[in-house]
Amino acid sequence: MPIPQETIDEILRAADIADVARAFRFELKPAGQSTWKACCPFHHEKTPSFHIDTSKQVFHCFGCGEGGSLVTLVKKLVNTDFVGAMQWLAQRYNIPIPEQTNGGESASEAARRRQYHDDGMRLLAEAAQFYQERLRSPEGAEARQYLAERGIDEETIQRYGLGFAPDGWDATATWANEHGFSRALLTATGLCLQSEKNQERVYDRFRNRLMFPICNELGKVVAFSGRVFGAKPADGGKYVNSPESEFFHKGRVLYGFHIARQAFSHSKWALVCEGQLDVIACHRAGLLQALAAQGTAFTEDHAKMIAKTQVPCAHLAFDGDPAGHKATLRTIKLLQSVGLQVLITTIPESEDPDSIFRKGGPAALQNIMAQAEPAIPFVFRIACQNNPDGSPEARSAIVSEMLEVIATLTDEVTAIGHCQWLAGQLRLPEETIRSLLTQKRAANAEAEQRARRPPVYAVAPPPPSLSVPKLVLENDSANALATTLLDLAVHFQSIAEQLSQDPDILNPLAECPAKNALTMLLAGTADGDWEGTISALTRNDLCNDPSVSAVLVKSQFENLTELPERDGALQQALTDCLNRLQAIKLQTESAQLGAQLEQQPDDLSALAEAAKLARERQQLRHARKRRPSS
Ligand code: UTP
Ligand code: MN
Repeated sequence: MPIPQETIDEILRAADIADVARAFRFELKPAGQSTWKACCPFHHEKTPSFHIDTSKQVFHCFGCGEGGSLVTLVKKLVNTDFVGAMQWLAQRYNIPIPEQTNGGESASEAARRRQYHDDGMRLLAEAAQFYQERLRSPEGAEARQYLAERGIDEETIQRYGLGFAPDGWDATATWANEHGFSRALLTATGLCLQSEKNQERVYDRFRNRLMFPICNELGKVVAFSGRVFGAKPADGGKYVNSPESEFFHKGRVLYGFHIARQAFSHSKWALVCEGQLDVIACHRAGLLQALAAQGTAFTEDHAKMIAKTQVPCAHLAFDGDPAGHKATLRTIKLLQSVGLQVLITTIPESEDPDSIFRKGGPAALQNIMAQAEPAIPFVFRIACQNNPDGSPEARSAIVSEMLEVIATLTDEVTAIGHCQWLAGQLRLPEETIRSLLTQKRAANAEAEQRARRPPVYAVAPPPPSLSVPKLVLENDSANALATTLLDLAVHFQSIAEQLSQDPDILNPLAECPAKNALTMLLAGTADGDWEGTISALTRNDLCNDPSVSAVLVKSQFENLTELPERDGALQQALTDCLNRLQAIKLQTESAQLGAQLEQQPDDLSALAEAAKLARERQQLRHARKRRPSS
């Protein structure tokens, strides 16, 4: 065993499944007390059915059935084994793994993972070349025509590695196959998608698109952005982008960064635009310090990337449309909070740097970029436009919009200076603004602390209903019965205790993972450790069975938990289950009796027994019918 058990325990104590999910950039939405949902990483979907439970540290996707423990999640996401997952977690939570003498296994695992990553990077680089060749080939004629119309010359095509992804479903897949890249690598890099119908098949993500390779800070290709041209395609938007992967984290990659950072020492400022075509236009106009966050979703990590280069100042030049304006305000705060001085270039309505370059050439773009305005006066101007009437309410709104931005300044003297300036503009006492700033900062600090705390219930729970799910009565599969019983026993201690008093109660159930989990839980409960056994269960292999992970993540009885009448309702559910258990038992017994009677038709005691069983089964059926329906 390469990693000592104490270290494993320590890692598991430190790790949090929601934090891991966020590390992989899942967009978690609250789904109830200690549960969150997101779009599933293991199958394609638009509405979230992937659930995680932070109290049990398990996950389950109700769409595709993948589920299991925190470790299983990491194993699947990082594409590794147990040791690899532990190493990943250890690194994330800063827990040293002691050197092992017999660590051969983990060393080879690490080597395998490095190899896999290298292969993926090679695939991405070679795919970029493949798309460039396709652009030069006869089938790229229309794409070349489009580029020419947009004024993008041959040198630019070369420099930015622009390419063309052929139409059809498998141009990339076939090329990659011929060059020895596996299907797994094609989907891991996001170049292809897994066919839902045929597990053996993958199909191209980028079809009939102009391809922009996206590079990391070392200039290595990690992703692509594919733009439509010519006729509008039925699928996707204007751009189709590579998905999040171990190779590409959109929130940590800036288009053009590897070129721009070299220009910072000379220019002393970074130029932040929206799109790759804007960056290309700026670079062509001599503004090599331009980069883009691929749209307006600029992140804190992006801001940190720029700040780390030691460039003191960032200019923002987002598109002159409402989305651009909104993003500007948000991005000012992110850039200021990492200590950058921020200036704004206002782009005329419905233009962007690329369109200005196309219409007016380098000079027009250089001119407009030279007219940058410091962020605070810019925000003041916008706030005054939004609240024009000069009333006390309007002035109050202006102050709070301004404080939002001033509060993110890291330099105290600068912040005080802006408070003085604002007080002068609005003819308000400076003291008032200063004390409001103090309040605002305290509120921000508290909000930040709250965000760091473990997630709490963030939305109102669904209105409670008293319905007991009818699954038990209507679904006759024994496995459904086992999972329902497991559900009751995992989520309601009193029921687990009730069940644990009769050791034979589960005998009629057929063998299945839920039954095994239930057996384990009832044994632990009988020993007086219901809670500890649940926690052990979440670390047991059993919880990697979808039927078990589903139950751990979400109770079908969750709507009942807040109700005063819940005990009655739960007892009803339990009674349903016990009746069903009894019915299975009777059914098995009467089948055995039937077989016996076939061989000895006049066995009187068997006949009497059969009659008794038939009566009991009849009574049970009556009980089912009498059950008040919900
Ligand atoms: P724009 O819509 O401004 O596109 O989006 P653009 O770059 O100016 O392209 P043209 O001039 O219309 O051809 C800005 C950036 O937002 C991202 C792309 O990175 C794009 O460059 N984006 C936009 C997407 O990722 N998906 C979309 O559907 C649209
Ligand atoms: Mn644009």
